[in-house]
Amino acid sequence: MRLHGLGYVGLQSTEAGEWKTVGPDVFGMQVGETPDGVTRLRLDSRGYRFALHPGPDNRLLYVGWDAGYAQDLAHAREHLVAQGVEVHEGDADLRSARQVLDLFWFTDPFGVRHEIFTGQHFGDRIFHGTRATTEFNTENGLGHAVFVVPDLQQAVAFWRDVMGFETTDVIKLRVPDTEMWFLRCNERHHCVAFMAIPGLVGLDHVMVESTSMSEVGQAYQAAKRHGLKMQLELGEHYMDRTTSFYARVPGGWTLELGWGAQLTDEQWVTRYFDVSRPGASSEVWGHEFQRETGPAEVVRPVGT
Ligand SMILES: [Fe+2]
Repeated sequence: MRLHGLGYVGLQSTEAGEWKTVGPDVFGMQVGETPDGVTRLRLDSRGYRFALHPGPDNRLLYVGWDAGYAQDLAHAREHLVAQGVEVHEGDADLRSARQVLDLFWFTDPFGVRHEIFTGQHFGDRIFHGTRATTEFNTENGLGHAVFVVPDLQQAVAFWRDVMGFETTDVIKLRVPDTEMWFLRCNERHHCVAFMAIPGLVGLDHVMVESTSMSEVGQAYQAAKRHGLKMQLELGEHYMDRTTSFYARVPGGWTLELGWGAQLTDEQWVTRYFDVSRPGASSEVWGHEFQRETGPAEVVRPVGT
């Protein structure tokens, strides 16, 4: 089983309407609203990439993965059933709500809902971002999603051995006995990554990639002007050489906007970085963690 890439992300938000300004003014995205009040963000030819559902609290609702062709979707379904995963067919209402040709869904070992689809609706005109420099690189999917999980080994076992993702890099962090695992289903350095915090599960951040460093700088300035707090300040990752910033966005989640992400190739083998050694760092420069921003609200105690 090999998925094509990250397709869409759905979140419940107490401030979904805020995206009508933050989406275009900060991130250059197009914004739309469905008749039932779901705010949708568009950043390429797809009908939408983020869906913000109004609700009483902030939480991750679903993560959509593009299977590619119909036969890939059928193969993924058969494979997951054979692996003992309970899959649910998407009925006509769900397919219509997601604007896809076909989908099924399941929950991962920690209760996060994943939807595997084929045939996402294309927008009825070419995507035009807010700024002249706004253009997103979605060649290998929307970007990546990083999850907080209560059990790292269980997460890795599921995504590597059941979902068929490959391990790009592993980092040993400064916190004793803590690692981050980065896995991929396409050329992107990572499509998912995991870090463990006992008792918690949720979305640490989603990364989208611009084709322009100037755009990242302009969005960073707009984010500051708009009063968004940073989870990580502007900086450059050592592992995939992405220059990015991580903004805490309306709905209590974190969006990373980056540029220059290095791709993997056929020769890639898993690398291990021990940044717990004195003087070692996972960053070329910047990316200072902003403790006062606090934890993302979409990371929640398990089972809540
Ligand atoms: Fe990231």
